[in-house]
Amino acid sequence: MKEAIAQLPEGIRERLTQAGRLADESGLDLYLVGGTVRDLLLGRARMDIDLAVDGDGMGFASRLARKTEGRYTPHPRFLTATVDLPEGNSLDVATARGETYEQPGALPRVAPAPIDVDLARRDFTINAMAVSLNGRSFGNLVDPFNGRGDLRSRLVRILHDRSYIDDPTRLFRAVRFEQRLRFRLERGTERRFREAVSGGMIGNLSGPRLLEQLRLICVEPDPWPVFNRLERLDALKAIHPGLASDDGLKTLVQEISQSGDLASSTYDGWWILYLVALFRPRRQETLHGIVERLKPNRRLRKAIEDMSGWSRVEQAVESGRIDTPADFYRAVRTISEDTILFLALTHPDEAVRSRCETYYHHHRHARLSIDGGTLKELGIPEGPAYGQILDEVLSMKINGEIGTAEEERRAARDLWSRLHRLGA
Ligand code: CTP
Repeated sequence: MKEAIAQLPEGIRERLTQAGRLADESGLDLYLVGGTVRDLLLGRARMDIDLAVDGDGMGFASRLARKTEGRYTPHPRFLTATVDLPEGNSLDVATARGETYEQPGALPRVAPAPIDVDLARRDFTINAMAVSLNGRSFGNLVDPFNGRGDLRSRLVRILHDRSYIDDPTRLFRAVRFEQRLRFRLERGTERRFREAVSGGMIGNLSGPRLLEQLRLICVEPDPWPVFNRLERLDALKAIHPGLASDDGLKTLVQEISQSGDLASSTYDGWWILYLVALFRPRRQETLHGIVERLKPNRRLRKAIEDMSGWSRVEQAVESGRIDTPADFYRAVRTISEDTILFLALTHPDEAVRSRCETYYHHHRHARLSIDGGTLKELGIPEGPAYGQILDEVLSMKINGEIGTAEEERRAARDLWSRLHRLGA
C-alpha cells in the first residue's frame, strides 16, 4: 500500500505521517478507512480523507488540530471530528465503532470498538478496508473481506446477507458505486438486492433518508445510469409506483448536464433539476404522493409542485394571452426559479426555452431605480396611482422600452399626466 499512498499529494502524505507519529506517541492505532482506501487503490483522485482511531477519535483529532495548527470541529453525536488543516485540506477522524440495528431502516446505535469490528459493520467489501498509519506498520493494508480482490474483479459485494435489511440506504449506495466505478453487483449481492426491494425494505426508510439517497445520486457526475439501473432493479417504483426511468429522463438528464454555464456560477440547485426531471409531468396525485413520501424541504417541494402551475402559463402563452416579456414576467414571477431554469434547459419548444432563459437571466430580479419617494419628488400626489405607475414603468423596463433612471422618471411623469387627464 505504500505505493498507493505515495500517489497522494506531498502535503497530504506529510500530514498522514505526522498523524501516524502522533498516534504512536498517544499509544493509539490510526488508520485510513472506507472510501479513501478504495479510491487510493483504484488510483482515483479524492478530496476527503477519512481516518479511524482504535480509541478516542475526538480526543486524538483535537490533539492533531493543535499540532498542525488546524481547526477542530467535533461532532459528538457521531463520535467523529473534522480537522481543517491550514493548507486547506481536511481530515475526518472517527472513533472506530460497532453498530447495532434495533429496527430495520432506522439509524444504528453505535459504540467504540476495535478496527476489525468497525470494518465488519460497513456496507461493501470494497469499502471495508483500512491502511495503518502508525510508524511501524505504516502502509499495511487491513482487508478482512478481500475488498482488494473485489476491486480487481470490479464487484460490489455486501459483507453479509442482512446488510440491506439493516440499512436499506445501501441499496442506493450499491448502485451508485456500481455505476460510478463501472463495476457490477456480485451475483448474491444482486439477489439480496432484489429480495430486499420486493420485501419492502425501501418502505422502511424515512422520507428524508430516502431523499438524501436521491440527492447523492444527483450529485454523481452522471446520474442517469444510476436511475436507469435502479429502474431495472425495480427500486424506483418501490419509492413510488408512478416513478420510472425512460428515454425521456435520459434526454432531460443530458440536457441539464450539458447546459454548461447557462445557470449562474453560484447556482446550487443542480440536484433539484435532476429530481424535477425524475418527477416530471406525472399526474397530480403522483406528484402529491411523491411529496408526501419524501417530505422535501420547501425549495424542492415548490420546484416539484410548480411544474403543475407551469402548465397554466403554457396554455396562456399558446392562447396569446401572454405576449410581451412583461406579461411573461407577471405570469411566472411566483414560480420557483429552479422550475424556470429546468424549463429553460429542457423545454421542447425553442421559443418557450428562450422566454424562460431571458426571464431567468435578465428579468427575475428586475427592479426599478425609482420608488414612491421619487414619485413624491416629481410632485405626484400620494395614492393608489403610485402602485399602478410603478407597475407600468417596470413593464416598460422589462419590455426594453426604457433603460436609464432618467427614462424611468420621465415615463412615470408621462403616465401620471395621462392618468390625471383621464381622471379629470
Ligand atoms: N458506510 C457504510 N454504510 C453506509 C454508509 C457508509 O458502511 N450506509 C461506510 C463505508 O465504509 C464508506 C464509509 O462509511 O466507505 C464512508 O461513507 P461515505 O462518505 O458515504 O462513502 P464513501 O465511500 O466515502 O463515498 P464517496 O466516494 O461517495 O464519498
